[in-house]
Amino acid sequence: MKVLEKIFSVKNSENRSHKVFTILGLKFKFKLKDSNIINILLENNKLIRKNQRLLNKIEKRMYMLDIPLDYKKFWINDDLQNIIPLNWGKYPEGFNPGEVISKEILKDIPYNTIVDFGCGYGRLSENFNPKKYIGIDLNSKALEKAKENNPEYNYLEINIDSEYPKCDIVFAYTVFLHNDDKTLKSILCRLKNTNCKYIMIADIMSKNWPENIIPPTYHRSVEEYNTLMSDIGFSLILEKRYPYKRYAESAEFNHLNTDMSFLLYKQD
Ligand SMILES: C[S@@+](CC[C@H](N)C(=O)[O-])C[C@H]1O[C@@H](n2cnc3c(N)ncnc32)[C@H](O)[C@@H]1O
Repeated sequence: MKVLEKIFSVKNSENRSHKVFTILGLKFKFKLKDSNIINILLENNKLIRKNQRLLNKIEKRMYMLDIPLDYKKFWINDDLQNIIPLNWGKYPEGFNPGEVISKEILKDIPYNTIVDFGCGYGRLSENFNPKKYIGIDLNSKALEKAKENNPEYNYLEINIDSEYPKCDIVFAYTVFLHNDDKTLKSILCRLKNTNCKYIMIADIMSKNWPENIIPPTYHRSVEEYNTLMSDIGFSLILEKRYPYKRYAESAEFNHLNTDMSFLLYKQD
C-alpha cells in the first residue's frame, strides 16, 4: 500500500459510480464510497500508516485497470464473505444447486471422478459421492472450512495457473463469472488437459448486471460461453434455468435477468 502515499494525480472518471486514481503511473478504480475514504487518508499520511484496517479495506476494494487482479489474494483476503450472498441462509438461490446438478443436469451420466471447480467451503459437496468427488479452490481459508464441514470429502488448494486433477466431469457453480476473459480462457485450456468429457457451467448469464463490484464479476451471455467452449472443443448439450430467489425478490435486481443458467457441455 506504499504506493498510496505517493499520489501523482487524481481525476474523476466518466462513470459516476467510481473514481479513477492514477498512482505511480498505474490506474486504480475505486468505488466512490471508498474513494472518499482515500481522500481523507491522503490528507494525512501518518493516518495512512497507522490505519491498517482501513488500508486493508481499500486494498480489498481496489480494482487495477492496467494490471490483472490477483484473484487468489483477493479470495483469501475476502475470507468467506462473498462465497454466497450474506444473510440469505445456506441457499440464497431458493433451491439446492447441488441437487439440481447431481439429480437433474448430470443424472444420466456415469463417472468415476467429478471436480467441483471453485468449491468454496464445500456447500455443494454433500450432494456427491465422497469417493468420486474432488473440490478445488484458490481460497485456502474456505478449504479449511470445507474440510471441517465435510471431513470425508477430498479438497485441493490450487493456484491461478495450476494444472487440475484428471477427472470425467467438471462443474463450476458461480465461479467463471468471477474470472476475466483472459484468465477464463487459460482455465478452460487446462480443464481440457484433465481429459474430462463434460463441463457444466452455472452462472447468472446476462450482460446488464453491474460490474466493478465485490467480488470481481464479468458477466457473459450463453452465446459467449458457447464460443469459449467451442474453442476448446466442447458443445452445449443441455441448458436449464432457475430463478435465483435472493436477486429475483430484490428491487435492486429484479428488472434484470435473475435466472441461474446451468449449461452442460460435452466434448465433441
Ligand atoms: C461465489 S463462490 C462459489 C462457491 C461455491 N461454488 C458455492 O456455490 O458455494 C466462488 C468461489 O470460486 C473460487 N474461485 C474463483 N476463481 C477461481 C479460480 N480461477 N480457480 C479456482 N477457484 C476459483 C473462489 O475462491 C470462491 O470460493
